[in-house]
Amino acid sequence: MKKAILQNGRLLPALESRLAEEFDVHGLWSEPDPQAFLQQHGERFAGLVTSAPVGASAELIHALPRLEVISSFGVGFDRIDLDAAKRSGVRVGYTPDVLNDCVADLAFGLLIDVARGISAADRFVRSGGWLKERFPVTTRVSGKKLGIVGLGRIGQAVAKRASGFEMDITYTNRRPATVSYRYESSLMALAEWADFLVVAVAGGSSTQGLISREVLTALGPKGFLINVSRGTVVDEQALVDALTTKSIAGAGLDVFENEPHVAPALLGLDNVVLLPHVASGTAETRTAMGDLVLANLRSYFSTGELVTPLN
Ligand code: DGY
Repeated sequence: MKKAILQNGRLLPALESRLAEEFDVHGLWSEPDPQAFLQQHGERFAGLVTSAPVGASAELIHALPRLEVISSFGVGFDRIDLDAAKRSGVRVGYTPDVLNDCVADLAFGLLIDVARGISAADRFVRSGGWLKERFPVTTRVSGKKLGIVGLGRIGQAVAKRASGFEMDITYTNRRPATVSYRYESSLMALAEWADFLVVAVAGGSSTQGLISREVLTALGPKGFLINVSRGTVVDEQALVDALTTKSIAGAGLDVFENEPHVAPALLGLDNVVLLPHVASGTAETRTAMGDLVLANLRSYFSTGELVTPLN
């Protein structure tokens, strides 16, 4: 008999079809009254499939008394209540590693875009600006100082790309990693030093507001901030103020505090590049992530072990 899996939020159509071939999947998103559905049917489900942006709250985990495993599409787990999962003896799988390259590519794309004004120049050409004036000079990327906040798997992939641009690389982390890049224990000192500060830490309560008003002030009027982590890591009001008053030079943002809502003040600024949380969003990487979501479920139900466990 197929295992009963509850699906929290929509997934890629191809992944939904593959899940439905192997499991008895029910979409919680299709229920007009999810609470009532959970009360009536919550005990049916042995598995929960979700994604990084949707996650799994303690309330949902508790509403599934026979839940054994959560398989999440994404590397971020700030929306999965791991304490609740642990208390209920629920194993959690996620999709690390397979997205490192695409997230790092996009971080670098944002970095080059905001420094060289690629998106702004594109708007300039399309709106006929070129017929009237020259596009202003921009900022060089090659050979500049790159500060990486969080030298995990994605941070290291960013550093690798930066080496190709002959950048001077320094990072901060909870503790030094075994790498040849320079370590700086103080985020403030790193921001003061860097031309570009790339944020690649995990989201969640421990990193909430890490990029504070003070850090942005330290980055200064020639510094650029790139965020491919979580919107919550940056004090968004302080960032809006810094971009508006040009107390930093610019920002490249793939993530926001209240997605999909972007602070209206950002929409009219040319010194910020705004993306709709798409760092891992290539067909190749999303397929690999989907493969891992399935592999984690298959593996758990056949061996009791996950391929890429979080707990
Ligand atoms: C992730 O995998 O966590 C990405 O940020 C998509 O949410």
